[in-house]
Amino acid sequence: MTQIFAHRGFSSSYAENTMSSFIAAEKAGADGLELDVQLTNDGEIVVIHDEKIDRTTNGNGFVKDFSYREIRKFNANNKGFKKEPIPALEEVLEWMKTNKLLCNIEFKNGLIPYEGMEQKVIEMVSKYNLSDRIIISSFNHYSIVNSYRLAPEIETAPLFIESIYMPWVYSQSIKASGIHPKHSTIPDQIVKTTMENGIAVRPYTVNREADMHRLFNVNCTAIITDNPVKARKVRKQY
Ligand code: G3P
Ligand code: CA
Repeated sequence: MTQIFAHRGFSSSYAENTMSSFIAAEKAGADGLELDVQLTNDGEIVVIHDEKIDRTTNGNGFVKDFSYREIRKFNANNKGFKKEPIPALEEVLEWMKTNKLLCNIEFKNGLIPYEGMEQKVIEMVSKYNLSDRIIISSFNHYSIVNSYRLAPEIETAPLFIESIYMPWVYSQSIKASGIHPKHSTIPDQIVKTTMENGIAVRPYTVNREADMHRLFNVNCTAIITDNPVKARKVRKQY
């Protein structure tokens, strides 16, 4: 059965990449989470999509210019009344010990290289004994290769924004176990052939019912969606 990954948590109803959003996704019955990580100036891995905190919090500036203590003062809950800090990745991993969710950690190290990010995340994942529940993804494919070198036991998947010729061949060449393509760029036949070649396919960000039907119909490995409740309703028909 196609798995449902909640993109930045249950982000259609809760503030993206917050603990509320992750907890709501788990309650909604998602199989996994997708979240984004950046690095503070004192080396803490924090869960936030943009390099800057401006769009999703009440503060301004680059994540890389704040210490962890400083960045925790801002409110990341821009959809509710309850004030909530930007989560540390460690907080999420600790909470994952209380449930069975999978988690796709996306390294946001395409624009800012964030030296040592892969190593830090991998050490943390192994400290919490979660290697078999984590998938590392990134648009930075050098980072995917690096992650595999550091921890071949953790699944990896390159992200694509445009279509790619024979993605299973590319994925195998960088030792990734999956691909995460933009959903509109991957035709049914490519989903099928990629999976037949042993490579998982988890398209993003699948929010329209028609797109969900198409991907459930081809029995795609997973979809990454902002709305796990809607996705579960559609999946019931398969
Ligand atoms: O991981 C899939 C998707 O999250 C990639 O794009 O910009 O939403 O992080 P973005
Ligand atoms: Ca992401």
